[in-house]
Amino acid sequence: YNLSVAATGGNASSPLMYGLMFEDINHSGDGGIYAELVQNRAFQGSTEFPSTLDPWKATGDAVLTLQDTQARLSRALPYSVNVAPASANTTGKVGLLNPGWWGIDVKPQKYTGSFWVLGKYTGSFTVSLQSATTNEVFATVEIPSTSVDHKWTQQNYTIVPTKAAPNSNNTFVLEYDASAGPLNFNLISLFPPTYNNRPNGMRPDLMEAMKALNPSFLRMPGGNNIEGDAFHYPWLWNNTIGPLTDRPGRPGTWEYQNTDGLGLVEYLNWCTDLGAEPILAVWSGMYLITNGSTEVLTEAELAPYVHNVLDELEFILGDTNTHNGALRASLGYPEPWALKYVEIGNEDNLWGGEPSYDAYRWNLFFDAIHEKWPDLTLISSTQDQSVAGPGSAWDYHIYTRPDDFVTKFDYWDHVARNHSILQGEYANIQGNIEGGGGTNWSAPRIPWPIWVGAVSESIWTLGIERNGDVMIGASYAPGFQNLNDYQWQPDLVAFTANPAQTVLSTSWYAIKLLSAYRYERTVPVTVTSGDNFGPVYYVAGVSAAGQYTFKVATYNATASVPFNLEFEGVKAGQKGTLTVLSASGPDSGGLSSNVLVGDTLGPQVRYTTVPEGGIDFLVNFMQTLKLVT
Ligand code: AHR
Repeated sequence: YNLSVAATGGNASSPLMYGLMFEDINHSGDGGIYAELVQNRAFQGSTEFPSTLDPWKATGDAVLTLQDTQARLSRALPYSVNVAPASANTTGKVGLLNPGWWGIDVKPQKYTGSFWVLGKYTGSFTVSLQSATTNEVFATVEIPSTSVDHKWTQQNYTIVPTKAAPNSNNTFVLEYDASAGPLNFNLISLFPPTYNNRPNGMRPDLMEAMKALNPSFLRMPGGNNIEGDAFHYPWLWNNTIGPLTDRPGRPGTWEYQNTDGLGLVEYLNWCTDLGAEPILAVWSGMYLITNGSTEVLTEAELAPYVHNVLDELEFILGDTNTHNGALRASLGYPEPWALKYVEIGNEDNLWGGEPSYDAYRWNLFFDAIHEKWPDLTLISSTQDQSVAGPGSAWDYHIYTRPDDFVTKFDYWDHVARNHSILQGEYANIQGNIEGGGGTNWSAPRIPWPIWVGAVSESIWTLGIERNGDVMIGASYAPGFQNLNDYQWQPDLVAFTANPAQTVLSTSWYAIKLLSAYRYERTVPVTVTSGDNFGPVYYVAGVSAAGQYTFKVATYNATASVPFNLEFEGVKAGQKGTLTVLSASGPDSGGLSSNVLVGDTLGPQVRYTTVPEGGIDFLVNFMQTLKLVT
């Protein structure tokens, strides 16, 4: 290949080119990045999605019962657990045990917790962190009771283990003296240190995994999880803000209950902490019913939900003279957040909802929001590009096979350019098949990202980079997978309760490399010998400071591909940095310090520094070259 990179020409590049998509799927929120360690801490439920005692167990000679007491902790959290000594003769300690989210990571660090009690007790409560297998106690704390009859009392505590547990198979135990008789407990919570020490915050290691990707935006909170399923519980912001006692939770779309402890404010703080632009999805009046069908609200039924979105935007953007701006200030946030993008719905045509989206749902939301907040870019979630027009944007999703991604390298060169486009979800989910072809939703998926898929995804996003004048940016989905309970594979980052077991996938490494190198505009690349594209796919760009970046991925080359690169804008003698990401084979998985829950990962991806001189291009690898003029 002889390539010449021009000094001028090309097109603008989006400053948001690589970002993140997050929804609570695969226990990525509850039991994942939301750092709460106690599972089912508040027995949240409803008539349609009954509350449960799972996974709590009694300790000592006690009986646990779920109760709706006359004195409720709050309207949102009516149910509590009653702990009763099994008989009048019961002595010693009684209480309850929680296994955490398939374990609890115990380290010598400060854990902060709280629980609510109903019933008179003058003794002390004991909270302990202990091994599930040996019962070894790693930390214990005595909490003098202030609990009284007929009124809920909050008990706060901290607990500091003196040593690390050998593994994460640990439990949380809360006990008191049986002589006190029955007591009720609710909202039993325990947090480890969180990212940026935020109260009610995020798991630091998973936040670090995202931060390392240099994300420019965070699209949240869904995904299918904003829709609500047959139970008719869409994600609504007002149920996710304020004290945890005011958050009822909801049956999420992904087969488990969401506590909504990870709520709107937490999402916006997360954006602040990562320096990422929020792309806020709002519910657009479509429920996802099991087996892929939908139920859609009529125009008249939608009105209160349109109003609810206006309230949400006032909460985020309004000044403190407004009702919802004042509400925000009362929660400790006098300054509005910065928000530029709002997406109306999620995948609104994929499940049969398209006629109503095009007919009235998009317009109802668009008109109301646009009138009040004309500077916001509103994003259409239908896969029908024509719904978006000048001034609005379109979100396109694709889950496919490696060959299909590569074939579509020039897809974005040919799209309508009268509005901007978000690539809000993409992933390679299946291996190649004979004769090519794309997704087959009934065929098996790959269990985790693989190298050939990561390279193909990179070729896809290089195509997006080439069209940065019209593209907002790209985000892989889904972001996280709790290996103990998940609904979707493959995922970008897999984890358990034990941070040492986190697996960063091949796709994660590929995005990390591509996202690390940004530029202000693309510059044209002329091929003086060789084919335009294939088996190499590339893009070149230049920053405002005159730094050139050349990114290339090689796919299915049968032999190494020699390269000659000439940069018109770079003076002779200037130095560059070459970073190569490669793997030993197409099926290679991500880097793991441990093998996880029965899964084994293939050989790892690796970064290499190539010595000056000949750059030898191998089969299926990617590299970036950054030159400083
Ligand atoms: O990323 C998983 C799911 O894929 C999302 O919830 C949905 O938007 C898409 O169908």
